[in-house]
Amino acid sequence: MRTDQNVGGSAPSLDADDTQALFNKQLAAYQKIVGENLMFHREVYGLLRNVLSQQMLKPFRFLDIACGDAAASAAALKGTSVEHYYGIDLSAQSLELASEALKVLACPIELRCCDFVEAMSEWTVPVDVVWIGMSLHHLQPEGKARLMRDVHDALNRRIWEPTLLEGENRAEWLDRFSACRVAFAAVTDDEFAAMESHMRLADFPEPAETWTAMGYQAGFANAEQLFIMPNRLGRVFKYWN
Ligand SMILES: C[S@@+](CC[C@H](N)C(=O)[O-])C[C@H]1O[C@@H](n2cnc3c(N)ncnc32)[C@H](O)[C@@H]1O
Repeated sequence: MRTDQNVGGSAPSLDADDTQALFNKQLAAYQKIVGENLMFHREVYGLLRNVLSQQMLKPFRFLDIACGDAAASAAALKGTSVEHYYGIDLSAQSLELASEALKVLACPIELRCCDFVEAMSEWTVPVDVVWIGMSLHHLQPEGKARLMRDVHDALNRRIWEPTLLEGENRAEWLDRFSACRVAFAAVTDDEFAAMESHMRLADFPEPAETWTAMGYQAGFANAEQLFIMPNRLGRVFKYWN
């Protein structure tokens, strides 16, 4: 695993060290949520797997921005033509787990422990698919747009991000998440409260039209919505030229 110097700037109120500490602390709760499919990882990563299997027939290089423990990505990529996997995440604990999970892939694996904003601003390795799952929303609009531009050189790009409903504001979206407490029965009250406070501090969802417009502004010729989570808190978008 390569460990780069952490650089701040991901979320407005947190520096990279704070963000890393926060995600390390919430890792266990997040794994429970994924295990219970409360955020619809099965559907989202199943969709990613289908798209990669059907559309990426030649060997491809896959960049997983904010890969976390990469368990879902590993399952989605297993059996595809992936020839190189790159993962970036601030959480060293997550990357330890990722290096285990990714052993199911036969290709070279490169994990970088650093801020993805900084990593993408100086990214030079050619990649064919860039995937961002539930992480771009931590940036402010200008940061989101800059990141889109930074990865525009990649031929194909997909993101899965929290999305506002038409006419909804951030506070209403956060309240909608809070109303999901019953569905999140797998996590304790403390874990749910920690998620809520993390989201109120660091999550900045955008309306669907803003996510697609940011893709066009970054230079992509096409932007398409592929999936809406059944609880309607987030969506998957695909950008390509
Ligand atoms: C909600 S998890 C998403 C994990 C996975 N991509 C998924 O789809 O489930 C968010 C991940 O983003 C990472 N993260 C958040 N901000 C980051 C940043 N600025 N640079 C690198 N990783 C970051 C966290 O450490 C965490 O592993």
